[in-house]
Amino acid sequence: MDARLARIAPAKAPSGNSFAEAVVMGLARTPKEIACKYFYDETGSRLFDQICELPEYYQTRTERALLQRHAPEIARLMGPEVEIVEFGAGSLRKVRLLLDALKNPRAYTPVDISGDYLADVVRALGADYPGLTLRPLVADFTLPMTVPALAGRLRRAGLFTGSTIGNFKPDVAMALLRRMRGTLNGGGLLVGVDLVKDPRRLHAAYNDAAGITAAFNTNLLVRANRELGADFDPDAFAHYAPYNALAHRIEMYLVSLKRQSVTVDDQRFEFAQGEPVHTEDSRKYTIESFREMAARAGFSPRAVWTDPERLFSIHWLEG
Ligand code: TRP
Repeated sequence: MDARLARIAPAKAPSGNSFAEAVVMGLARTPKEIACKYFYDETGSRLFDQICELPEYYQTRTERALLQRHAPEIARLMGPEVEIVEFGAGSLRKVRLLLDALKNPRAYTPVDISGDYLADVVRALGADYPGLTLRPLVADFTLPMTVPALAGRLRRAGLFTGSTIGNFKPDVAMALLRRMRGTLNGGGLLVGVDLVKDPRRLHAAYNDAAGITAAFNTNLLVRANRELGADFDPDAFAHYAPYNALAHRIEMYLVSLKRQSVTVDDQRFEFAQGEPVHTEDSRKYTIESFREMAARAGFSPRAVWTDPERLFSIHWLEG
């Protein structure tokens, strides 16, 4: 760890047994479910990076192109000397596009639940931006958290990309935006939001031919086996991700292919043949419906950028 990283207060890791509780409680429910944040162990984060490069997964490359193209304008809106706070930072590839355009960015605070992965990618970023103060926070941004002010009480700008906002129910999403607004102390938030579109395009994005999304989904069970001593047979569950056109969302499940029982943490769970475990939703918005939600969360929606096909949108919300 270099000097700039060492100056940073040690961040709290997500407690070791929260995954165990989530799996045990989620499987006791009807219908069964496992919360999507548990996708992102180190293997999951790396599989997700592969998803982002898939030909069918247009989201990442469209968002990147938008960021690249509008970086000068975004940089003007964010202003000079800011601290960027990124929620669910992932690979840190997108922030580079902004850092290159911003005027004298002072600090970067990436928040991510995937600790080892975050440490790796932050090290690489630090080498490329030697003047920047880096403060990686290993945290679950869905829980209340404090991001202490850095020296100089820098003005903040938030970054929330990848349409992660779509992975929350609308009321939860709104509460989350509200909380982020608090964390940003009056600074604005840049949010990437996937748009409602041709259902075939959406379906393909979550059902790729190479099976990476299926592997990503199934990795939840592999993770439970490794970390919780569970005895899932990953081959006995199918990745199933239909688009619900009425609700504007991809729904993701692991469906039990046979009658089976699984033991997790000394508890036995029965699965019927064809029984689903709900693992994620990915909601799609219209530009207007997202702006409305942001306004209800207390932000003032300002600029919005989209691509010619209107696949994806980036919103600048003033705090
Ligand atoms: N925020 C991303 C999305 O909803 C997350 C994601 C993409 C994802 N592909 C996935 C999550 C596949 C689980 C499985 O698009």
